[in-house]
Amino acid sequence: MARQTADQHLETLYAQARNEPDPQVKASRIRMAEHYYKFRLEQKLGRSIHMAGISSNVKMGKIEPWDGDLNPKDLLIDADDVGDIQQNQILTALEKRGICQLRITAQSADDYVIKAVAKLIGPLTRRQNDFKKDVVKLIVPKAAGVANSGDTLADLGLHVDGTQHTETPCILMFHYVSAAKLGATSVFVDTARALLDIKADRRQQILVNLARSDAATFSKKKMVHTGPIFYFSPTGRLVGRIRFDSVIGLHPECIDDFNYLLRKFNDSKYRLEFKPREGDIIIFDNWRVLHARDEVFGKKVRQHWRGWVSNLKPAFQPDYFLGIRPIPAAIAAKIEAANKR
Ligand SMILES: [Fe+2]
Repeated sequence: MARQTADQHLETLYAQARNEPDPQVKASRIRMAEHYYKFRLEQKLGRSIHMAGISSNVKMGKIEPWDGDLNPKDLLIDADDVGDIQQNQILTALEKRGICQLRITAQSADDYVIKAVAKLIGPLTRRQNDFKKDVVKLIVPKAAGVANSGDTLADLGLHVDGTQHTETPCILMFHYVSAAKLGATSVFVDTARALLDIKADRRQQILVNLARSDAATFSKKKMVHTGPIFYFSPTGRLVGRIRFDSVIGLHPECIDDFNYLLRKFNDSKYRLEFKPREGDIIIFDNWRVLHARDEVFGKKVRQHWRGWVSNLKPAFQPDYFLGIRPIPAAIAAKIEAANKR
């Protein structure tokens, strides 16, 4: 019998898995094919693929995907002060749901609050877009504000922050100084949940296609970045860099899959909407959770401080998983390969 190439052998392994009627044997055949794929890719790349937190199921991924039915009260961390207990609560919440709402009793909304809370999690970036500060001063929406930014009164579409930077910040912190009387509802979407609801084959196709290195170009405030929409951070977490506004330009071969996600992520079923109280700090995983804000009405406008945390402290990296999960190892390997093309 003629010797099979590596690709043919992989096909044979997947075909055997597809045709296997016994669910347990099928699962083990799929694992075998995944291992083989990972091994071949590692040979090709000349290094081992270490993607901690990549897993084939929700439990192993230490993740609790959610949709618009999540009770916002479940996000709340009520605290009299901020110390090791709150640190653990925040990190655990970020890992599970990718979002929490910290409410510190009788704490004024000053810029040092974000700095103090960030010290528990990880370093603040030294700049945010064209702001050369680690905590950006009050964002006061104005009618004449720049479109697609926190400066405008108009509805802001779903997005992640920092899309024009080489690395998008891992965690965002918004500290609300004042809330609008009407409107200005904050909106969050768990991309991990929405992606899980897509049929496995289609999901894989989308993730891999949008992982090409020229998938999207983001242009805003004289900054431009071209790169994949899904890619691995230097710490091995799957990052989603996506936005649904005029800032993003797409490779023609990515438009169909992008439009699919546009419809999916904007499905009202996934929108968690609530209005933070004055003094609340919303902390969330910018690699996994999209955010938006609806239109601001009235004279009393919403103001908040904003901090970007570049990544978790190295000591927490092995223990707390962030980013989009679960992703089977074979798909992770395909995404990583596509990132290099
Ligand atoms: Fe934003």
